[in-house]
Amino acid sequence: MNNEHELIYEGKAKKVFSHDDADKVIIEFKDDATAFNALKKAKFEGKGKLNCLISSRIFEILKNENIPTHFIALKNENTIIAQKIKIIPLEIVLRNTAYGSLCRQTTIRSGTDLVKPLIDIYLKNDELNDPLITKDRIELMNIISSKELDLIIGLTLKINVILKNFFKNIQLKLVDFKLEFGYDFQNNMVLGDEISPDNCRLWDLNQNSDTIVSLDKDRFRNDLGGLIEAYSEINRRINDFI
Ligand code: TMP
Ligand code: ASP
Repeated sequence: MNNEHELIYEGKAKKVFSHDDADKVIIEFKDDATAFNALKKAKFEGKGKLNCLISSRIFEILKNENIPTHFIALKNENTIIAQKIKIIPLEIVLRNTAYGSLCRQTTIRSGTDLVKPLIDIYLKNDELNDPLITKDRIELMNIISSKELDLIIGLTLKINVILKNFFKNIQLKLVDFKLEFGYDFQNNMVLGDEISPDNCRLWDLNQNSDTIVSLDKDRFRNDLGGLIEAYSEINRRINDFI
C-alpha cells in the first residue's frame, strides 16, 4: 500500500487503510494465520491473495442476492475497496454440522448434521478470549437492541441458505462459518469482514471414503498441512463454476 493511504487498523488477518473517499476503506488481506486467539501463529505465502479472491467472489454472490454488505470491489489480488463501517463487537457463528468448539463444549458428537442451523454468538474481545454470549447479556451490555439482533440473525440464516447451495454446487459441505456485521455511514446494518476458508469450515464432498477432508483453516488449527493447496482448490472450483 502506498503512503497516501493511512493504516487505520491492523487485525490478525487484515489491514484496513483509508481511502480518498472518506466513506470507504481499502482492506488488505495478510498472509498471517492465527488460531486459538493467536496462541498459534504462522505465515502462508499466498493466503492473503487466495482469501481476498474467494471472499470477493462470495460477497458478489451475496450482493446479487440482495444481502447488504460492505464489499464494493476487488482492487487488486490482495486488496478490496469496501464501505467504511463501524463493526459491532459480536462474532456470529452459524453451524450446520457439529464440529470444533460445539463438540468440545457439549456432548454432541463431531460430524452430527444438525436438524436446524444453530447460531452461536460470541463477544468479539481478544482479552476475554471471545466468550460465548447470550441475548440477555448482549442487551445488558447495550451492544445492540433485540430488534437489531433479530435482523442479524435473519440475515445470517439467509446467508446460510445462499452459501450452502453455492458450496454444494462446487462439491463442498458448509459445516459452519463466522460472520461480522457493522453499520455503514448511513447507519444501515451491513455484513462486514470476510467469508473465506479462514472463517468457514468446508469439507470436500469429492471423497469416496467417510473420512473428513477439511479444505479450510482446520488444516492449520489441527496441523494437517496443505493449507495453501486446500485454499487454492476452493478458489479453482469457484472460478470453474462462475
Ligand atoms: P469453532 O468451532 O471454533 O467455534 O468455530 C466455528 C466457526 O467459526 C469455524 O468456521 C471457524 C470460525 N471462527 C472464526 O472465524 N474465528 C474465530 O475466532 C473462531 C473461534 C471461529
Ligand atoms: N481467529 C481466531 C484467532 O485468531 C481463531 C480461529 O480462527 O480459530 O486466533
